[in-house]
Amino acid sequence: MSKLSAAITAVGGYVPQFVMTNQMLEEMVDTNDEWITTRTGIKERRILKPEEGEGSSFLAIQAANDLLDKRGIKAEEIDLIMVATATPDSMVASTAAFVASEIGATNAFAYDLLAACSSFLFGMSTASSYIESGRYKKVLLIGADKMSSIINYKDRTTCIIFGDGAGAVLFEPNDEGLGLQDEYLRADGSGRKFLGMEAGGSLLPATHETVDANQHYIFQDGKSVFKFAVSNMADVAEKIMVRNNLKNTEVSWLIPHQANKRIIDATAKRMGLDASKVLMNIERYGNTTSATLPLLLYDYEDKLKKGDNLVFAAFGGGFTWGSIYLKWAYN
Ligand code: UT7
Repeated sequence: MSKLSAAITAVGGYVPQFVMTNQMLEEMVDTNDEWITTRTGIKERRILKPEEGEGSSFLAIQAANDLLDKRGIKAEEIDLIMVATATPDSMVASTAAFVASEIGATNAFAYDLLAACSSFLFGMSTASSYIESGRYKKVLLIGADKMSSIINYKDRTTCIIFGDGAGAVLFEPNDEGLGLQDEYLRADGSGRKFLGMEAGGSLLPATHETVDANQHYIFQDGKSVFKFAVSNMADVAEKIMVRNNLKNTEVSWLIPHQANKRIIDATAKRMGLDASKVLMNIERYGNTTSATLPLLLYDYEDKLKKGDNLVFAAFGGGFTWGSIYLKWAYN
């Protein structure tokens, strides 16, 4: 009997309606469209306003329902739902459990997966393992982040980068050898001093002082993170190619985390890939953290063909990073 592999069989996505342009940010902080565009590649990002919906769960639910509609299956058929996120609805109670109930996935168990911008990539590994083991048949992985909930719109070093959004993929067994082929995942906890949120966790619980000191917003030493991201994302993407004897001409698409166009360009260059093989939507959504990878699949689903060799790569807070090689399973 051939080995069971875990393939992505459907994709869904959702971005909020409100578009925050670089010009709008010029009114809020000391920045300009030219700086943001040349340093990051971002032109606009989506922001979830209260009149549209609340919390990352709202985004996740829209993406999940979109996927179920397209795949033509009922929510009751799902065995497991994982929500990859850095902005869960609240501490303690699982956001994924709420999402499962809201979409009617009454036969599923559900939990969240937190690894900053690598949450979705690591979730792909977890979802695939459940499928490969033969234990579950339909695993729904959602990447959802309402980054605007932890952004200080007076801090020009972070507010220009992040946006809100969600994407979802369904993993199912495949006996044609398609789906996840290999992974190279890493973490380095010394990175937490460069990117994170100081207060609100068990280390520094919320007090009036932490709120007054803006410690519930994301902070980033951009220059340091940039250096780690450029070298580590390129390293793992190259390693996965070498380990699988993948020539640059055999890579159909690079699917990179959308943090900064310059990081993406450096990764593609190291892999010897032409820009036409690199999926990008950073100019429209900015960095949506856990949603960047599935939103790329959602935006470019029409271009992906059965048997295509996809290389995913991500880098995020923690630090966490890695690369996954996956064969696309449908047209
Ligand atoms: O997804 C998780 C992982 N995150 C990342 O991968 C992000 C990695 N980092 C980055 O993408 C970049 O470091 C940033 C986009 C955050 C910043 O770009 P940079 O080229 O590293 O800029 P910088 O921090 O070195 O700042 C250069 C200059 C500074 O001015 P001086 O000291 O040269 O006078 C900053 O004060 O640009 C200034 N600056 C800005 N100017 C206009 C910083 N932010 C802004 C801004 N608008 N928004």
